[in-house]
Amino acid sequence: MEYQKYVAKNVKSIEISTIRYFFNMVNQVEGAISLCIGEPDFTTPEHINEAAIKALNDGKTFYTPNAGLLELRKEIAGYMKRRFKLEYNPESEIIVTIGASEAIEVAIRTLTESGDEVLIPQPSFVAYGPCTILAGGKPVYVPTYMEDEFALRPDVLEKYITPKSKILVLPYPNNPTGAVMSRQQLEAIAQVVEKHDLIVVSDEIYWDLTYGVEHSAFASIPGMWERTVTISGLSKSYAMTGWRLGYIAAPRELAAEILKVHQYSVTCAATMGQYAAIEALRNGDEDIARMREEYNKRRIFLLSSLRNMGLECFEPRGAFYVFPSIEKTGIPCEEFAQRLLYEAKVAVVPGTAFGENGRGFVRMAYATSMENLEEAVRRIKNFMAGL
Ligand SMILES: Cc1ncc(COP(=O)(O)O)c(C=O)c1O
Repeated sequence: MEYQKYVAKNVKSIEISTIRYFFNMVNQVEGAISLCIGEPDFTTPEHINEAAIKALNDGKTFYTPNAGLLELRKEIAGYMKRRFKLEYNPESEIIVTIGASEAIEVAIRTLTESGDEVLIPQPSFVAYGPCTILAGGKPVYVPTYMEDEFALRPDVLEKYITPKSKILVLPYPNNPTGAVMSRQQLEAIAQVVEKHDLIVVSDEIYWDLTYGVEHSAFASIPGMWERTVTISGLSKSYAMTGWRLGYIAAPRELAAEILKVHQYSVTCAATMGQYAAIEALRNGDEDIARMREEYNKRRIFLLSSLRNMGLECFEPRGAFYVFPSIEKTGIPCEEFAQRLLYEAKVAVVPGTAFGENGRGFVRMAYATSMENLEEAVRRIKNFMAGL
């Protein structure tokens, strides 16, 4: 049967993420240490697990409202206010989603019409471009540079704006670079957003994971609340990737439109997980602080180790990635990653997995034990010495 003729052109035009490709390769190399995957190595804190178990035992096995349990939406609104001074009405401005992934997809799908251009700073998370294409839009990648610590520059952004530009995706704290944008830098971006009448999808899934700097929510910049769909979730902050829990906060009118797309895609997020999320948001601050402290130790260790090897690397202040330049080795990043895996048994992701602007870099995730990191560093050092 000739299946390809049945498959939509938009779908054929996108590819499976190469991160997974590398992740699968790791499994073929015995004894390999993976710095590949962007997820916490911690398991979910027990009190959060207990809340889900209790929900199951109490018979909470039915659908919730499409937007999620109101009790959870209240906790989300409370958290956003307490941490980032953001005000949202839990009744009408918050939607619980299946991870930040679904949030990104439904937000972009709700806002994008055929031919609309979606501005995406790059390097960045792999989903924004494909979601744009599936929605019939055109991704326009805006480069960010190591010299600017991978912050989005307003003058560079403006160069990519056309009359068709409609959405700006803001991916900070950033995966894969670990970049964080300061309030001042965000204010400069806000001026461009206002001037060109853009709407912003701000993916702030890593907003709890910053080191030595405060995260500013984009919607908290004056004038931006009205223009921003904020996305976050529980995956990274509480070590809950497998629970698939995220959320969207947006002005009422937009949230109502997004809710339609969410409803017809997934109905609602899993019920027992929503009970776990209530517990996480209510009593999980210490868990975040504990894990963040541990990530920070690893961040400092990995950064200084890479610099000691002579690799150029800006100091990442967020998420759990470092993004060293491997330009000076003269080896293309895909080949570097492949050789590092097969010759030194350390798995990293080539920068190009996050777009053309990632060329010359590799991403290393430090969401793994210090022991693993120490051994990985030993191996990378030997590999580098042998080049
Ligand atoms: C920037 C960014 N956004 C969204 C996601 C997806 O998160 P979730 O697991 O909540 O779907 C990831 C996961 O790696 C990410 O790095």
